[in-house]
Amino acid sequence: TRPNVAVFVGSLSARSINRRLSLALQAAGRDLFSFSTVNIDYLPLYNRDLDQDLPPAVKRLKAQVQEADALLFVTPEYNRSVPSALKNALDWGSRPYGASVWRGKMAAVAGASVGALGTAVAQTHLRTVLMHLDVVTLPQPELYVKVTDALLTETGEVLDPDFERLLADFMRRFSVLVASANGRT
Ligand code: FNR
Repeated sequence: TRPNVAVFVGSLSARSINRRLSLALQAAGRDLFSFSTVNIDYLPLYNRDLDQDLPPAVKRLKAQVQEADALLFVTPEYNRSVPSALKNALDWGSRPYGASVWRGKMAAVAGASVGALGTAVAQTHLRTVLMHLDVVTLPQPELYVKVTDALLTETGEVLDPDFERLLADFMRRFSVLVASANGRT
């Protein structure tokens, strides 16, 4: 069976271009992986006072990550860093101390923006956080996407063949990384 990838989108917006990109990546990797989308919208703000009695939304998040073989993060950059909603999900999954669900996972990181430089700084911040959480990230290829309607439709359909090849290569390289994870967890 194909490895299962839990997909995180760093934007909560219904019109998110990062959600578009996540759909295109799932389509590009459909023969290599199965996917489950993680909903981070309903997580409360992290509070360590709740560590011993985790809210139901947090329990669902942790169970979904535990079941996944690997993780895919597709995120915008907010003020040169990771959106707080995504950092919040990472913080919840790391607690209580000693019960982190991230440890040993493999992950890929990608991002979409409307500007040319978009998401490079956020992705670097995200990789640093993931390193601390003992998550190995795919080093290359990096994927910084400036989304236009000519590249990617609202439903995640890719209109440019070069871009389609880029996404397929990204997912293929990710599958090689995931296959190398044997015994890490
Ligand atoms: C942004 N945006 C942005 N873009 C960027 O390239 N670097 C940045 O630091 C920021 N900062 C930032 C902060 C906040 C609060 C918002 C709302 C937006 C623009 C951002 O790339 C753009 O809004 C994307 O469309 C957001 O991605 P989604 O929500 O469409 O997936």
